[in-house]
Amino acid sequence: MAAIRVARCATRKKRVIKVGGAYHGWSDQMVYGLKIPGTRQYLESHGIPNQSFELIDEVRPNDLEMLEDYLKANRRKGGTACVIVEPVGPESGTRPVAWNYNKGVELLCRKYGALFIFDEVVTGFRVGLGGAQGLFGVNPDLTIFGKIVAGGYPAAGGVGGKKEYVSCMAAGVASGMKRAYVGGTLAANPLSAMAGYCAIKAIAENDACVKAGHAGDRLTDGLVQLINKYNLPYVAYNQGSIVHLECTAAMSYDFSSKHLLKSLIPVLTKQDMIYVRKEAMEMMGAAYMANGIVTLAGSRLYTSMADTDEVIDEALGKFEDVFKLVVERTAPMEQQVADFKKAHGKDKEGKAAKKAKAKQEIAQRQADAKQAAKQAAKDLKALKAKSFKC
Ligand SMILES: Cc1ncc(COP(=O)(O)O)c(C=O)c1O
Repeated sequence: MAAIRVARCATRKKRVIKVGGAYHGWSDQMVYGLKIPGTRQYLESHGIPNQSFELIDEVRPNDLEMLEDYLKANRRKGGTACVIVEPVGPESGTRPVAWNYNKGVELLCRKYGALFIFDEVVTGFRVGLGGAQGLFGVNPDLTIFGKIVAGGYPAAGGVGGKKEYVSCMAAGVASGMKRAYVGGTLAANPLSAMAGYCAIKAIAENDACVKAGHAGDRLTDGLVQLINKYNLPYVAYNQGSIVHLECTAAMSYDFSSKHLLKSLIPVLTKQDMIYVRKEAMEMMGAAYMANGIVTLAGSRLYTSMADTDEVIDEALGKFEDVFKLVVERTAPMEQQVADFKKAHGKDKEGKAAKKAKAKQEIAQRQADAKQAAKQAAKDLKALKAKSFKC
């Protein structure tokens, strides 16, 4: 939120371009095209008015041509204030970036006068002390930090960057200059700042990024061996200590398009299958958890320097237990889809029952609201009569 505000302040331009599928926090304007590219506000943005997305564009991951098309088109619509990316690809690299993509984005930003924002909430102090910008050799205007930057303490957010942009931030009563308001109860929290300092110092002193990366490599190699051993249609890969284990490819769709209907129609028609895959992913997550492995949503694992070879090998043993169960018990796909529909009232009977229930609930809510309004009018009348008396 702060980085975008600064970018708009500094460039005096309004539009923001993000990459489809990427996550940049849950502020209204950024809950757009989350998880699955091309879904715009049609999958995850309930409760957020459409106006929040009026100045946001979403481009296909790894597609520099589409990005340039938007940057060009935006010149006629108030210009692009910034392009914001997750350095290893949307959703922590669930859709990995091509090696030169970030450099391409940086050059396009320079060409069109937009700020280049690197969201290093996950990658900062993880892929290396220089973050992903050190790894890819790029030079963003603003960098967003989180998580490690506060050593696991709350208020884990930070924005850094070039002096001319960072100095646009201000808090307190009007400074008399055009500055981006940035603040909040937990801003500049000394405890979190100290925790972050200690954590980053310890990371540097212990070569933690490299050790965590080795643990990620060992875990990934082991997972690939297990996948091959049990002949499962899964994929495992890693970007150092960020390990991906895709069992259902819940986020592998891509509906990116410049044309609304070309995105919207497949989003709507494929929705059931998206939910089937999502549920299967969550069930895998629950199975891992029941066996003592904590994953992120059943598809991602983050290793640290504490993950010694013994820890990784123990985890692999637990993954093997889960994979064995999958082989023994998995029903054919058609059966899984039918079971899912039945369980979630998405078959014919379920849909009819849901419709009838919704109708009944609306009628009840309307009746309740009418009754409440009547009562409030009565109470108001009594209140007015009382207050006039005193
Ligand atoms: C890439 C990225 N950006 C930003 C955030 C911060 O999000 P939030 O504000 O929801 O904590 C996260 C959290 O996981 C993230 O992965």
